[in-house]
Amino acid sequence: MITIYNESKLQNIIDSFTIDKIELEKIAAAFRRDIVLGLEGDSLSSFKMLQSYLALPTRTEKGQFIALDFGGTNVRALLIELLGDGKVNVIKKATKQLVTADYNYISASTTAESLFDFIANLILEVAGTDKEYLLGHTFSFPSMQTDLNNARLITWTKEFATTGVEGEVVNELLKAALERCGASNIKPVAVINDTVATLLAAAYKRDHTDIGSICGTGHNTAYLESYHGLAKPRMILNLESGNFDKLFTNPYDKMIDERSEKPGEQRMEKMVSGKYLGVLFYLAICDALELADKAVDFDGADLSVILSDQSQNLKAVHQLIKAKMAIELDEEMCVWIKAIAESVVIRSARLIATSYIAIIWHIDGNEFINEHTIAIDGSLFEKMPLYKEAMQKTMYEMIGEDAQKVHLMLENSGSGVGAAIAAAI
Ligand code: GLC
Repeated sequence: MITIYNESKLQNIIDSFTIDKIELEKIAAAFRRDIVLGLEGDSLSSFKMLQSYLALPTRTEKGQFIALDFGGTNVRALLIELLGDGKVNVIKKATKQLVTADYNYISASTTAESLFDFIANLILEVAGTDKEYLLGHTFSFPSMQTDLNNARLITWTKEFATTGVEGEVVNELLKAALERCGASNIKPVAVINDTVATLLAAAYKRDHTDIGSICGTGHNTAYLESYHGLAKPRMILNLESGNFDKLFTNPYDKMIDERSEKPGEQRMEKMVSGKYLGVLFYLAICDALELADKAVDFDGADLSVILSDQSQNLKAVHQLIKAKMAIELDEEMCVWIKAIAESVVIRSARLIATSYIAIIWHIDGNEFINEHTIAIDGSLFEKMPLYKEAMQKTMYEMIGEDAQKVHLMLENSGSGVGAAIAAAI
């Protein structure tokens, strides 16, 4: 049983995850400045400002399309019917994991061909070989586009490492794989990021939607840019905001960055997204408990268990730590552990909410805030206790009563529906 602890050290750990309003304002100002620099093509911006070649849907888009949702270790293919005015029917759906105990399609020892052959076979399951379909591809990695269908992967993120994809046109790889498996009836015609897909799917049914964001395994935001530089004509830009780097980091953030596939990149994502929050928490509690780092795997779902524990003696916290780390904590230590978990999660929500305010200031200017709906997908936003509330509170802290005009809306079928809308366009 671990019962000895140093309160001031524990408090310091929590403080290292706590960001006050003044810091948030500095972050918002830097975020907004990086948008402006990015629009001017200035390399000092941490944003990639990727053009989507799409504005908002007209809501008249109709027909049956294949949607491919490829952005994490779960890949999905869907046959979707768009009925207009926000109405959608998912006719068929198939999902496969890219990593199991038997295989791993995201490691550096896998080739682009075998990854895309695997995906093409999944598509076949929903599309068959008889009928012709247009395919919309939600590819949730930073890609440089020259038109709606031509997207070249700039760099893998989220710890993907499959060889032969970086620098390539992803729908060409997909098309070749579809041909190899006898499915040339399926024509890839559009590639979009998941943030863009989420925005499209929400805007298909709701007014004032101009921002789409993912708060899940990864984190990123896209918005409708009306007036500036790169976005002529008016189009949705994918910021790749996970790469934002003007932040206040702590020692655990630095450790995560150093041991990641791509040190120095995706600094904001490594502080806020589901892929990393569990690890951040684990590193912080190893420090709190003065234990060696044995690379125990904590994930977002574990944090959710800890934050949901409302029992008197924090039984779930006690059991989870015992099961994962083979140690027993007394009640008081469980309280500290829960407080650390909360500080990790709440920091994520506050940073992301701040980035939304920065985007809104960029769109509206300083004088007046208009109505905005921010369409959000991802397990953190959908399922993590305290998350949405912390985002909303942060918005009030930053913009007062105007926060009532900013609606945070869950859009959890965006990646599929958005891809179908893009194919229809
Ligand atoms: C990563 C990807 C980005 C994607 C996000 C959410 O940040 O680079 O393209 O939108 O994850 O899936």
